[in-house]
Amino acid sequence: MAQRVVKTKIIAIANHKGGVTKTTTSINLCDNLAQLNERNTVVLIDMDPQANASKHIGLDHPAKITFNLAELLVNPTADLKAFLYEDTQIEGVTLIYGSLSLETVPDIIKQEDPRPNEVLKARIAPLVGVVDYIILDCPPNLGLLTMNALAAATHYIIPVESGAAYGLYGLADLQERINRIKKINPELSFLGALLVKHDSRLTLCQDNERDAISMFGTVVPVRISQTSKVNQSIAISRSLRMLDRNNKVTKQYVELAAYVAEATGGSK
Ligand SMILES: Nc1ncnc2c1ncn2[C@@H]1O[C@H](COP(=O)(O)OP(=O)(O)OP(=O)(O)O)[C@@H](O)[C@H]1O
Ligand SMILES: [Mg+2]
Repeated sequence: MAQRVVKTKIIAIANHKGGVTKTTTSINLCDNLAQLNERNTVVLIDMDPQANASKHIGLDHPAKITFNLAELLVNPTADLKAFLYEDTQIEGVTLIYGSLSLETVPDIIKQEDPRPNEVLKARIAPLVGVVDYIILDCPPNLGLLTMNALAAATHYIIPVESGAAYGLYGLADLQERINRIKKINPELSFLGALLVKHDSRLTLCQDNERDAISMFGTVVPVRISQTSKVNQSIAISRSLRMLDRNNKVTKQYVELAAYVAEATGGSK
């Protein structure tokens, strides 16, 4: 039987601001990409020392996991297969665990690797051409882990908190870093700013929407509203879809996955 040709899409969910839904978006995007087509293989890589994504969808607490991303990044001879946890709370989504030990990784790879921005890219190379989507949940800073995500990615999304007074403040710094990373990853392509916790009735959200369009040019044509269901879904270690299929935000994440699949030319 002919092997399926897979064009792997590696999508970084990045913003150095904290609490802008990077993790929530990563998890629910993974879930819905896996749902789009049962053939889709989806890997979530938790790049954040807080390891919130791993706590949410992992079957074990990240502190119990030896084969985590920190170990993968510091060990050039690591066998990637051991780090892929196929059994998670979300069917069809494989996890590479984050952990607190990621905190020490930038210092180690800066000293030991001649290309410290490109360690992740080298380590996950065996997945390219094999899995459909790799989603990178970035930490809330512009440090080496975020740079590794952007250097490995084919695409990126910047979630922007629409209802926050300084929602766009400081994002020029992120764009400046991305421009630098493009020198080593010229193919990196922007899927858009994603307006989150958005309420189109509020003037602040309307202002931020307008500013995001002028600042980023590309804005994802799906808005994510605010809902208490997100916190509920975290509390029970489920995706929004598993908690409440009919919730407005569940449907918005379905639309986001469809947009991502379409915009990346991926399998639907
Ligand atoms: N659509 C939403 N409506 C309401 N609350 C939300 C929504 N999305 C996320 N949240 C909540 O906002 C908080 C921040 O979300 P999340 O952890 O996904 O952000 P983050 O950008 O990953 O944060 P960090 O920068 O700390 O990694 C969490 O408490 C989460 O439950
Ligand atoms: Mg997070």
